[in-house]
Amino acid sequence: TRKIIIAIDGPAASGKSTTARLLARKLGYTYIDTGAMYRSVTLKAFEAGLLGHLQDHPDDATSLLEGIDIAFEAERVLLDGKDVTEAIRDNRVSRHVSFVSSLKPVRDTLKQMQRAMGEKRGVVMDGRDIGTVVFPDAELKIFLVADASERAKRRYTELVRKSGGSNNVPSIKELEQEILQRDRSDAERTHAPLKKHQDAVEVDTSGLTIDEQVALVYNLALEKT
Ligand code: C5P
Repeated sequence: TRKIIIAIDGPAASGKSTTARLLARKLGYTYIDTGAMYRSVTLKAFEAGLLGHLQDHPDDATSLLEGIDIAFEAERVLLDGKDVTEAIRDNRVSRHVSFVSSLKPVRDTLKQMQRAMGEKRGVVMDGRDIGTVVFPDAELKIFLVADASERAKRRYTELVRKSGGSNNVPSIKELEQEILQRDRSDAERTHAPLKKHQDAVEVDTSGLTIDEQVALVYNLALEKT
């Protein structure tokens, strides 16, 4: 069987990363979470105190990007050698990531890194623009969607689990608003907006269990390998 590229795009919290990770495991492929890369750059901007400055000087993002090292190792995310797996999921990163992702220098740099990571094929890559911009030649393109209320519930459960309780976790309603706001920003931006590629297979995960959505995409992948 040949090794292919599987691009999984879709709005926030639609089940992309869970599906992509399990699918990659089943196929023996590498999983690349491009959202984690945009989140890492956002965290770096935060830590450098540059977020406000970038609003008026987007080109200065190049100083953050110079020599940046983002690596995936044993399902951990390493930013400049430091484990940021948990830090990039923080809700304050989620609130600013769409802004940082809209900056052209950020997109150009991460696109090059992603193409290099997938060049040997045998990868499952998830994000917003993988099928449309990063790998338009991906053999299988999936566009994953789910109802906003379902997505907010999933994100809430995930945050509660990760923080060991509902303290400091926004309400489901607030999360739904944030998710919809992020989708709007991602879909309306100038560079590489979120949209379904004409060849992408749309999968609605609203009523599906994780096993069901993985099985569905796995079968589509087998047809292509
Ligand atoms: O996938 P996740 O929700 O973690 O992505 C976080 C954010 O990163 C998205 O809301 C979007 O702004 C940005 N992103 C992007 N292009 C990608 C992946 C993520 O702009 N390929």
